[in-house]
Amino acid sequence: MTSRPDIAIHATTSSLHDAHYQIAQIVRNQISVISTCEELVYPVGNNIRLAKELDRLAKNYHVQVMAVGVNPGFVMDFMVLAFAGICTKIKQIRVERAVDISKRRESLQEKMCMGFSLRQFSRVKKNVGHVGLRESAMMICDSLNTRARLSTKTRPIIASRPIKTNNKIIKSGHLAGLEQRLVATRKKNRFLEMKLTMCAGVEDFDLVDIDGTPPIHVKTGGMHGDFATVGLLLNYIPTLLRAKPGLHTVRNLGLPR
Ligand SMILES: NC(=O)c1ccc[n+]([C@@H]2O[C@H](COP(=O)([O-])OP(=O)(O)OC[C@H]3O[C@@H](n4cnc5c(N)ncnc54)[C@H](OP(=O)(O)O)[C@@H]3O)[C@@H](O)[C@H]2O)c1
Repeated sequence: MTSRPDIAIHATTSSLHDAHYQIAQIVRNQISVISTCEELVYPVGNNIRLAKELDRLAKNYHVQVMAVGVNPGFVMDFMVLAFAGICTKIKQIRVERAVDISKRRESLQEKMCMGFSLRQFSRVKKNVGHVGLRESAMMICDSLNTRARLSTKTRPIIASRPIKTNNKIIKSGHLAGLEQRLVATRKKNRFLEMKLTMCAGVEDFDLVDIDGTPPIHVKTGGMHGDFATVGLLLNYIPTLLRAKPGLHTVRNLGLPR
C-alpha cells in the first residue's frame, strides 16, 4: 500500500519560472506544497500569471500551496506590516537588514559574490544578489493601499583588508558582499526605502523605522536567516493545511501555527 504525504517542502530555486514547473508536478500528485521560492512568496510583475496558474491547479487538485522564508516573507515585509498595524498615519517607511555572510552557507556567499574579483563580478552581476526586495516592497505597498513606482540598485562592497570567513580568506580589493537598495515613490515622494547589506564582517541587524503616528523605531540584533526560514516552513504547515485549496501568501494567512 502506498501512502501520500500531506505536504512537500520545496527548496530548490528563487525563480518562479523554474519553481512553477516543479511545484505543479507535486500538485498534480495531490500533495500540498510549502516552498522557499522567493518569487512565490508574493508574486509580482510577470510572475503573477504563473502564480494564477498555480492557484488554479491547486484548486483543481484540492491542495494548498504557499512560499515562506525569512526574507522575503518575514523581516522586510510581514514584520514591517505588523508594526505598521499600530499606526493611524504613515508618511514614510525605512527598512534595513544587514547580514554577516562570513558565517553563513556557501550558496548564500556565492549569490552575494563573496570573494569575487571586480572582473568576475562584472561578468555575473545581472544574475546575482538577493531575490525578493521587489516582492517585499509590493507586499507592503499593496497592504497599505499605496501605488508606488519602484527602483532598485545593487553595488558591490569591496574588502579594504583581507577577511577570514568560515571557509575562505577574502583578498583585499575583492568583494566582501553586496548592498541592494529599493526606493518606492508615491506622488514624487519617497514612501518606502529598503536597504539590504549582505557582506562579510558586517554587524547583523534588522531595522524598521516608520515616520508615522505613532513613530516607530525598532532595531534587532539580527535574525539568523537559515534557522528562521526552517522555523517559518515548519510553523506554517498546520496553518496552510487548514486553509482553503489554492495559492496562499503570508499576507492572507497571517501568523503561523
Ligand atoms: N525566502 C527566503 O527567505 C529563503 C531563505 C532561504 C533560502 N531560500 C531559497 O531556498 C532555496 C534553497 O536554498 P539553499 O540555500 O538550500 O539553496 P542551494 O544550496 O542552492 O540548494 C538547492 C538544492 O536544490 C536542489 N535542486 C535544484 N533543482 C532541483 C531539481 N530540479 N530537482 C531536485 N533538486 C533540485 C539542488 O541540488 P543539486 O545541488 O544537486 O543541484 C540543491 O541541493 C534557494 O532558492 C534559496 O534562495 C529562500
